[in-house]
Order: sequence, then C-alpha cells, then structure tokens
Amino acid sequence: MTTVAIISGSPSRASKTNRVAKWVSEQLQRIGHTVYFIRLRDLPAEDLLYAHSSSDSIVKTHDWIRQSRVVVVLSPVYKGSYTGILKAYLDLLPEKAFAGKLVVPIVTGGTIAHLLALEYALKPIFSILGAREILHGVFILDWTLGHDDEGRLVFSDDLLSRMEEVIHSISHGSEKTIMR
Ligand SMILES: Cc1cc2nc3c(=O)[nH]c(=O)nc-3n(C[C@H](O)[C@H](O)[C@H](O)COP(=O)(O)O)c2cc1C
Repeated sequence: MTTVAIISGSPSRASKTNRVAKWVSEQLQRIGHTVYFIRLRDLPAEDLLYAHSSSDSIVKTHDWIRQSRVVVVLSPVYKGSYTGILKAYLDLLPEKAFAGKLVVPIVTGGTIAHLLALEYALKPIFSILGAREILHGVFILDWTLGHDDEGRLVFSDDLLSRMEEVIHSISHGSEKTIMR
C-alpha cells in the first residue's frame, strides 16, 4: 500500500475536476492506500495570493506531499492552460518537491482542441519539481462526465476504463496509462 497526495486545482464551487479528484481519492482508499486530499479552493486565499509559503495551512500540505510516493495533480483547462490557483500553489512548493515521486496529471476541458495543455503547460512544471516519472495522464472532456439520480459521478465507458488504468498504475507504480 502506498501514500498518495491529490492536488485538485479548480477554484469552482460546483467543480467537475474536484468531483473527479474525489472519485480518485475514494477508489484509492477503497483498496487500502492512504490519501491526502488537497483541494486548493479550501486553502486560505491570502496565503496563495501573497505567497505565504510558511503559513500553517500551506506547510501542512507540503508535509503531506513529502510523505507521499505518488502525487495526482488535477486541473480544468482555463484559457488554454491550467488554473491560476494551481500555479499560485505550485509556486509555493519547496524546490524539487516532487523528487522521487510518480506524478499523475488529470485535466478536464470543454474542447479536445486544448488536449495539449497537459503536455506543454503542466508536465514541464512536474519536471522542474523533480518528478521521477510522469504518467501520460488523462484528458477528460466535459461531455464524458455525467451523474446518476443520486448525484454520483458517472463516467462514459471509455473514460471509466482509462480512469481504472490510472488507479492500477498508481497501485503498481508503472507507466501504463495512455492519453486519449
Ligand atoms: C474561466 C474558464 C475558462 C475555460 N477555458 C477553457 C479552455 O480554454 N479550453 C477548454 O477546453 N475548456 C475551457 N473551459 C471549460 C473547462 O475546462 C471545463 O468545463 C472544466 O470541466 C471545468 O472544470 P471545473 O468545473 O472544475 O471548473 C473553461 C472554463 C472556465 C470556467
């Protein structure tokens, strides 16, 4: 069993990305992994805006990341890139905060045209932070996400199998997830 930090980078209250992050968290916990869930919209806005990197709230999340072997980073595409709140948070991380870790990017978006945001925007930062391995990741189009009568998240069949591959890759620490 392993320890996983999930960083969910949507500022939105009714966020699709945060719901996907919650799904990932639940799946990992169900099979016995320890999960630290960092929902950036819950952190004090002033800490993010004024770069209070030694505030208690921020330092606590840095400890969680330090303890984790895997880091899952989720963001919606906003204006062709990842969100500003995620950038503000990543800027506060210690140098090489992802050293030795497996990093898993998951991006939600409205259009396939911005699929490459994952490659050109997110992944370079993970390298700068020292990631040992970066999975290809998953780009989730809005229309492939739904919900059932009880409001639970429902994935399209294809998306569900890709998400299950992510859970498998995290559990087994190997590169198996193909971006589609
Ligand atoms: C401010 C804003 C900007 C967006 N810009 C893009 C974009 O450039 N490309 C894209 O594919 N989708 C874009 N979208 C759509 C979101 O990426 C998509 O709906 C995503 O699932 C929203 O996630 P959230 O509910 O966690 O905010 C944008 C949405 C918002 C609110």
